Amino acid sequence: MKITAIGHGNVGGALIKAWAKAGHQITIGARNPEGDKVRKIINQSDNIRATSIEESIKEAEVIVISIPSHLTADLAHQLGNLSGKVIIDTTNSVFRKPEPYRTAFEAFQKVCKADVVKCFNSTGFENMIDPHYPQDNSDNAVLKADMFAAGSNPKAKEIALQLAKDAGFIAYDFGGDEEVELLEELCRIWINLAMKQGMGRNIAFKLLKR
Ligand SMILES: NC(=O)c1ccc[n+]([C@@H]2O[C@H](COP(=O)([O-])OP(=O)(O)OC[C@H]3O[C@@H](n4cnc5c(N)ncnc54)[C@H](OP(=O)(O)O)[C@@H]3O)[C@@H](O)[C@H]2O)c1
Repeated sequence: MKITAIGHGNVGGALIKAWAKAGHQITIGARNPEGDKVRKIINQSDNIRATSIEESIKEAEVIVISIPSHLTADLAHQLGNLSGKVIIDTTNSVFRKPEPYRTAFEAFQKVCKADVVKCFNSTGFENMIDPHYPQDNSDNAVLKADMFAAGSNPKAKEIALQLAKDAGFIAYDFGGDEEVELLEELCRIWINLAMKQGMGRNIAFKLLKR
């Protein structure tokens, strides 16, 4: 798949590398595509290139956005009309909103008219670098961390769920547009456990079924 990534920090950087390893072609759309941070990522795989944000969206079918949420309303206006393109929104607006919108998801839907899905927001970036956890009492068996995708556009949802699997997660449909803010709350639960309750950042959610 050809993927454009806007934001190449903790989250963007981890996803870019995971997808490049899985064989996807990634174009980083960056404010400074020649900069050291971008160069360091590009040097890790022939499947990664970089250009300006404006150039990166021209041919893009799937755009993954991983920048601070409060800056996403301005970014949405900069990107303009993206109807027919899929945006994967990895951001969380629970602490600071992209005014006048409640979430980046809403900004990308309303301003860009894109097919938006929320995914890769509900866990720490360390789990995007490596979603595998050892099983109790076994040196060999591993458990894969869970990832959730919310949004009502079926094509965007299908792509996000596939990319979550390609990054090594077990992927679940979390529901439609009406569940996007609930999925953002899941990040607050993760942050509470990891930081406030002192469990550390190497924790992940796992759904049990019977
Ligand atoms: N950190 C986590 O564990 C985690 C987990 C889940 C979700 N999230 C969410 O993911 C998003 C990114 O978090 P992060 O930790 O990856 O942040 P980060 O490491 O600070 O990276 C931010 C990235 O956004 C780019 N950027 C900043 N402002 C921009 C703008 N106006 N236009 C284009 N690019 C811009 C930066 O590029 P420059 O080099 O140009 O500054 C950088 O590549 C946040 O919304 C966060 O809530 C984070």
